[in-house]
Amino acid sequence: MPLMTWDKRYSVGVKSIDSQHTVLFGLINDLHDAMLKGEGKSMTGSLLKKLADYTQTHFVAEEKMMETANYPMLAEHQAKHRELIKKVDGYSARFERGEAALNLHLMNFLRDWLTTHFMEVDHEYGPFLNDHGIK
Ligand SMILES: [Fe+2]
Ligand SMILES: [Fe+2]
Repeated sequence: MPLMTWDKRYSVGVKSIDSQHTVLFGLINDLHDAMLKGEGKSMTGSLLKKLADYTQTHFVAEEKMMETANYPMLAEHQAKHRELIKKVDGYSARFERGEAALNLHLMNFLRDWLTTHFMEVDHEYGPFLNDHGIK
């Protein structure tokens, strides 16, 4: 059973962003599956890295869109992205060094930061981008 299921309440009203968010859901579910199956460190480590890398790619794309539309809250939004990247990278590094384990605590943390960020922070730019022709 997947940890996260896409639901229209997660939609920010911009198609390309929704599809990137869906990819993030998928990556978290892959990681969750690997954890449940008890996959080894090389498998889970590479999934964790994939998630961290895609998160970075997504944030860059999202920030570019906000910049194009002159979104007034861009700086605040970027700061939130940086904070999240720092957390995920930090976790990934601790995992690599064998100081952290892939467990339900991490999975819940990842799920919560994603859903909270989508629903509270990303939701704010949807109508603004739509008004600027980005849908
Ligand atoms: Fe965002
Ligand atoms: Fe986002």
